[in-house]
Amino acid sequence: MPSAAQEKSLGSVEYEWNCKWCHAADRKGTSLFEQRSDIAMPDLTTLTQRHDGTFPEDYGKTVIAGSSARAWHTPGQMPAWGLYYSLESYLGNATRLEEWQTEYVEAKIAAVVKYLEGIQVE
Ligand code: HEC
Repeated sequence: MPSAAQEKSLGSVEYEWNCKWCHAADRKGTSLFEQRSDIAMPDLTTLTQRHDGTFPEDYGKTVIAGSSARAWHTPGQMPAWGLYYSLESYLGNATRLEEWQTEYVEAKIAAVVKYLEGIQVE
């Protein structure tokens, strides 16, 4: 398993690649996506504040993993990253689903959640 510092950097790279387009570089949702849509994006730096002072790790993991039942491209909905990461590991490395792919998905989600935990305001 990577160390906490490595996880954080894996998470920040992931944020740069896949999240900032909607959630913005400042993580406050002032993105092109928000400007062009009528969706009020949540401020990802106030998750702890909005959950009674405790970072909502499980909630974050659940929201980010999403549900495969959810439409991917419906405007205004958060994409289901669990499904995306699962495809990413499958297409990149294997010809059939293996046990480690679940670990890959969990590790990526854990890394990005760790990153979010590190950017919370007091
Ligand atoms: C296509 C735009 C889009 C992308 C890309 C996106 N999100 Fe979201 N996200 C949303 C929207 C819209 C919401 C608001 C609630 C909903 O629709 O689920 C949201 C909600 C969230 C929430 C819940 C926030 C709260 O206050 O409850 C978290 C956490 C989150 N996103 C993290 C991420 C992470 C991490 C990534 C990158 C892996 C990401 N998002 C990429 C659109 C996006």
